[in-house]
Amino acid sequence: MSAESVYLTTPIYYVNDKPHIGHAYTTVLADVLARGARLFGRDTWFLTGTDEHGQKVQEAAQKLGVEPQAHVDETVQRFLEAWERLEIQYDDFIRTTEPRHKVIVQEILQDLYDRGEIYRDEYDGWYCVADERFFTDKDLEEGRCPLCSREVQRVREANYFFKMSRYQDWLVEYIREHPEFIQPDFRRNETLGFLRKPLQDLCISRPKSRLTWGIELPFDADYVIYVWFDALVNYISAVGYRRDEAAFAKRWPAIHLIGKDILTTHTVYWPCMLKALGVPMPKTVFAHGWWLSGTTKMSKSLGNVVNPMDMMERYGVDAFRYFLMAEMVMGQDATFTENAFIRRYNADLANDLGNLLNRVLSMVGKYCGGRLPAPAPDAWEEGAPAELKARLLEAVEVFKESLDTFTLHAGVARVMEAVRATNRFIELQQPWSQARAADPAPLHSTLYAAAEALRVCAGLLMPLMPAKMTELRLALGMENPMTVKPEDLLKMNVLKPGAEVGQPGALFPRIEAPVPGAEATPTPPAAAPAAKPEAPKPGTIGHPEGVITYEDFEKVQLRTAKVMSAEAVEGTVKLLKLNVLMGDERRQLVAGIALYYKPEELIGKTVVVVSNLVPIKLRGVESQGMLLAASKGERLRLVTVDGDLSSGAVVK
Ligand code: MSP
Repeated sequence: MSAESVYLTTPIYYVNDKPHIGHAYTTVLADVLARGARLFGRDTWFLTGTDEHGQKVQEAAQKLGVEPQAHVDETVQRFLEAWERLEIQYDDFIRTTEPRHKVIVQEILQDLYDRGEIYRDEYDGWYCVADERFFTDKDLEEGRCPLCSREVQRVREANYFFKMSRYQDWLVEYIREHPEFIQPDFRRNETLGFLRKPLQDLCISRPKSRLTWGIELPFDADYVIYVWFDALVNYISAVGYRRDEAAFAKRWPAIHLIGKDILTTHTVYWPCMLKALGVPMPKTVFAHGWWLSGTTKMSKSLGNVVNPMDMMERYGVDAFRYFLMAEMVMGQDATFTENAFIRRYNADLANDLGNLLNRVLSMVGKYCGGRLPAPAPDAWEEGAPAELKARLLEAVEVFKESLDTFTLHAGVARVMEAVRATNRFIELQQPWSQARAADPAPLHSTLYAAAEALRVCAGLLMPLMPAKMTELRLALGMENPMTVKPEDLLKMNVLKPGAEVGQPGALFPRIEAPVPGAEATPTPPAAAPAAKPEAPKPGTIGHPEGVITYEDFEKVQLRTAKVMSAEAVEGTVKLLKLNVLMGDERRQLVAGIALYYKPEELIGKTVVVVSNLVPIKLRGVESQGMLLAASKGERLRLVTVDGDLSSGAVVK
């Protein structure tokens, strides 16, 4: 991680919405990355906020018979409360109805207008009220809005346009030359794909006859500004643009965390706006995937499906934050089920981490009178302790790196690996046997080393679970458990021998069974298995080797995908690189099938993909999933589906 300062943003959320999993995920992610950056000593700024103008707000206020401002003043509270509950430590919360924002939007508009970047013209096209977006004939899908499939209106009216088209060539060049600008890679390709079509100028005004709840154009009082133009400006109006040059230079450029559905606004509109203003580009726009329920995006109305926000109330805020970060491979979609939550909670938090703490505390209690023993002077020098130390240092490096490379899930996994290594270390050293020896030194060194490992792991997990990890570090007898010093993560012998440790207890009480009715994996009814066999309890029924439980199988997500293009991986004879469409998501797969299929034979085929594998690189090319194929002897055939089925379907 470099020493430069970090400015992290979330999208500003529509103030009309109730906070849901989509909002919670990006905001927790930003919070964890910001806390992580602070932990490693970087100057950090974290901005979130609410998007408060537009038609939907105007309509909601009208329905309630209140002024739009009064309405948003009330609904914004839901976000403020949710973020407090979720332990979000933002540095600033911007609302687009605040004067500090509105005045900057107006100055920007006037400036662009004066410099000929904005012009007036007749608009003739389609308009979707719900999305507040204009579309051409070609954009429509079966005559309906391509975003929400609702009916669209024909609109012919005078409007103002931003000359976005003139930046097309520059933008393509910029994206190509700055691989860190749009991440992950496949999203960069998506934007470049979008930019293959001619870029239109952007209609940025809405006549007041249709919409009054917006920022007025400074050069024409009959219009308000298009809500996206208004909203995007928050990222600079909040940090001193045109007001405080020094503050602005200190913060900008930002790292924007967004969901994949708002990629175009952030990687096409926004860079063009900034270019026209002469402001440097954002450092990175990182688009994450969606939390799915079955194959659909989870958001407001979830019907009979478990509401993820309830998990927070049921099992605790820290466990909820941990689950969101550990479960979702950054950039990819993930499925949210209560079963998955409970499985991960029990495995990682109750078993691995919680048990480790309890083992250490109870043995220090039993063998050392509840005070941390002192390690031998050469305790870390060789053998198992030296190996444990190496694991810990590795975890620190990988975790630190993962904050910068948008691979937090992998960083967290490495910390949990170090926790498991500590449990194995205890098994290996057998402190209960060491306690019977005349010389107490080996016992003391073992217990002290395990406590140190816990200190380091809890320090790394602090950004994810601030309250629980503080509790854990307090139980190890630390005087300032909340303050994690980065230099202390890289050295041993930080805990003070003689310090009084806490009593064993349940930091993460095991969840015995899912709450009745909440365990359904929300898949479409037709795809659901007829009857779900009970998973045998470990230790009650022995499985023959190689047999897996239903739960094990459930971890593997299989989806159908359509092959859009295929080519050989350069310098290899066996590998093909495929571009597939899985629902509305594009993935790149690398498969060892070149000896059996020509690239052109594959195009248009519906294949079956393991969709929740951690991406790996094969000969330097990333593969975001695995194709299923059957092979016998010299033959290999791909697994396909029997009949016509759209891509993205769940295979069960
Ligand atoms: N107001 C705009 C953003 C303007 S930013 C200048 C907006 N607001 S929103 O309230 O709809 O926020 C949506 C954010 O939540 C998006 O980033 C979207 O991807 C994310 N999510 C909504 N549902 C989601 C899931 N089920 N899973 C993960 N994130 C998804 O768009």
